[in-house]
Amino acid sequence: MQQGKILVTGGAGYIGSHTTLVLLEAGYEVVVLDNLVNASQEALRRVQDIAGRSLTFIEGDIRNRACLDQLFDEHDIHAVIHFAGLKAVGESVARPLAYYDTNVNGSLTLCQAMQQAGVFRFVFSSSATVYGPDAPVPYRETMSRGRTSNPYGTSKSMVEQSLEDLVHSDGRWSVALLRYFNPIGAHPSGRLGEDPQGIPNNLLPFIAQVAVGRRQMLTVFGNDYATEDGTCVRDYLHVMDLAEGHVSALGRLPLPGIHVYNLGTGQGLSVLQMVEAFERISERPIPYQFAPRRKGDLAAFWADPHKAEQELGWQARRGLDEMIADTWRWQRQNPRGYCSEINTTTQGISQC
Ligand code: NAD
Ligand code: UFG
Repeated sequence: MQQGKILVTGGAGYIGSHTTLVLLEAGYEVVVLDNLVNASQEALRRVQDIAGRSLTFIEGDIRNRACLDQLFDEHDIHAVIHFAGLKAVGESVARPLAYYDTNVNGSLTLCQAMQQAGVFRFVFSSSATVYGPDAPVPYRETMSRGRTSNPYGTSKSMVEQSLEDLVHSDGRWSVALLRYFNPIGAHPSGRLGEDPQGIPNNLLPFIAQVAVGRRQMLTVFGNDYATEDGTCVRDYLHVMDLAEGHVSALGRLPLPGIHVYNLGTGQGLSVLQMVEAFERISERPIPYQFAPRRKGDLAAFWADPHKAEQELGWQARRGLDEMIADTWRWQRQNPRGYCSEINTTTQGISQC
């Protein structure tokens, strides 16, 4: 059994729920703080069911300092993994204040509460978007952050900068900035997965909903990029690999300072390659039509993942077929996401 508890903010969400499961399975005690703005308690019920272990869930907001102080008072927190935030790029353009409030103000409030509680180990969910449109591929951690093209990306960059400044100001801090590429997939049981509200923004949830009959047709944004088939290229990685990357990063935290890692596979795949792979594995047709480019999309980027491999001993192990088979199993078994089975028990859940 590991020492101390891990606070997982946003632990009911897509990446947070998978990471919470991996933490429980690795023997950690986990406290989840989530305001459920984009998640369901059902995910946490299933996490506990699969792990055969329980966690502590606190329904609360990272911007609520009193809630955080109470949490740190009541629990012996060893480290914090911070997923909580808003993540829709398009929505961030329409609602910048909401994004800066949750993503930046929320992260700073959390760090202030940690500082007061004497907790200095922090893992932050950053994004490949911080490299900006001018960075050459593959992206490497030695490259500086680039300009951002939307408030979501800017919020990630601002938090990264704040954490760097914090670490330089106080040698007790140990911070991992994990820059995710494109997480897809689901737990192999088919019981946990990505459950977007409304029309999915991201490619894989959209394709999966077409395959299951919830949507008629995929719109492919742009077929005139300078890529092999004209569609955008991304570095898709399995959410279980990503979850395991967080456990590996915790192992780095005894070392003070700032630790920046790309979490990706190092391989780029085009939109049409993803469509073809999904059709092959699901044995369902994915009708699609081309439309103009989506504003803000970059033609192609992928990670250089070697630093995480060398320093964390982490690499993405699961291949494309596994990512898609797991996405498809989740979608087939839960055509309406967690809505299909909402458990209303409040046992073991506190609010603040
Ligand atoms: P998600 O929306 O599924 O999870 C975020 C969770 O945070 C949700 O459970 C939501 O209810 C919670 N939350 C939001 N605001 C909160 C607040 N004020 N207080 C407490 N809880 C709050 O998203 P995800 O895909 O799991 O992403 C997790 C993190 O990873 C986010 O910070 C996101 O920006 C980052 N990230 C995601 C991707 C991706 O493609 N999914 C890529 C790069 C980075
Ligand atoms: N795409 C379509 N049709 C769709 C949805 C997406 O053609 O319905 C295309 C996009 O144009 C893009 C590719 O599929 O070319 C991937 O798009 P996603 O929205 O799935 O992923 P992004 O690379 O745009 O964005 C993701 C995260 C962001 C993060 C960014 C960079 O969602 O949070 O990676 O890390 F900022």
